[in-house]
Amino acid sequence: MALLEVEDLRVSFPGPGSAPVRAVNGVSLALEPGRTLAILGESGSGKSVTAQAVMGILDTPPAQVSGSVRLRGRELLTLPPKRRDKVSGEEIGMVFQDAMAALNPVYTVGEQLSELLRVRRGLSRSDARRRAVELVDRVRIPAAKDRVRDYPHQFSGGMRQRIMIALAIALEPAVLIADEPTTALDVTVQAQVMELIAEIQRDSGMALLLITHDLGVVAEVADDVAVMYAGRIVERATVEQIFAGPAHPYAEGLLASMPRVDRRDEELYAIPGAPPNPARLPAGCPFHLRCPRADDTCRATLPPLSPLPHGRASACHHREELLHVSHR
Ligand SMILES: Nc1ncnc2c1ncn2[C@@H]1O[C@H](COP(=O)(O)OP(=O)(O)O)[C@@H](O)[C@H]1O
Ligand code: SF4
Ligand SMILES: [Mg+2]
Repeated sequence: MALLEVEDLRVSFPGPGSAPVRAVNGVSLALEPGRTLAILGESGSGKSVTAQAVMGILDTPPAQVSGSVRLRGRELLTLPPKRRDKVSGEEIGMVFQDAMAALNPVYTVGEQLSELLRVRRGLSRSDARRRAVELVDRVRIPAAKDRVRDYPHQFSGGMRQRIMIALAIALEPAVLIADEPTTALDVTVQAQVMELIAEIQRDSGMALLLITHDLGVVAEVADDVAVMYAGRIVERATVEQIFAGPAHPYAEGLLASMPRVDRRDEELYAIPGAPPNPARLPAGCPFHLRCPRADDTCRATLPPLSPLPHGRASACHHREELLHVSHR
């Protein structure tokens, strides 16, 4: 049994007109202990809303959520709110892009960590304080003993992100969800923070659901990848498989638009057009308006995510040909 199983997850919001905003349209994924699954997609593809629905932090209403989210086989979507908060609060840690918004500006870092440990773990004041220092040290903040007395604004962006990671792992969750954890940081700091997350994941054996728009990050840290487009997973594969040759034209476009050292002189490819408006998804394959391989079937019929050999899956009518073309 997978640690975390998401099945046919759908999320919509009331739209500006009469049509709802269909942010997530039937996402299924499974996360195994100790593995890193990257959700890769352009801005607006429904990655964050998927994470928020898994975490149970969407307000319903206005959001409408259906499908299934199971942790160790236990359904979370139908749990009463209090139980749900307890399960996801203790078993799923979450790191967001914006640490400043996630941290409380009026409490010191030590106070925030201690409070969490006292409330959720029942630690004494002194044990919680000691553990808070350990956690700040664990995320490699120098002079942890002194720094726990500082407020979030007294840290740099990268250091704040480390503090959010400390908070997310404080209760030793089985799953860590990191939603674009390094997007707001300088490039050099990005790599260090990503390496820290990967290292903690390896040491603790927790499962990591890593949300990113950056194929470079996927290549560095993920085991498996789920490519998202217009609220659906359009390709699921191991990282080796997808880099050897994608089985979906959208994934193909993403790969072709990735800067590579061995192709420095060539102009970078850009996928033409823009993602569809989730309040007005086109008929047929949602990628057909941008797809160089689109035909009449594509314009008429929505391709379901369908299995391919070696555990991969692709939501493309021409998935078999794509695999064949690149001889895999
Ligand atoms: N609270 C909300 N209310 C209405 N629409 C939303 C809300 N949150 C997200 N959306 C819409 O859902 C779609 C997917 O958003 P999101 O999951 O944040 O994309 P991503 O994280 O992939 O960039 C977008 O069109 C976004 O505008
Ligand atoms: S189903 Fe058709 S339009 Fe959609 S990705 Fe495949 S080839 Fe392109
Ligand atoms: Mg997002």
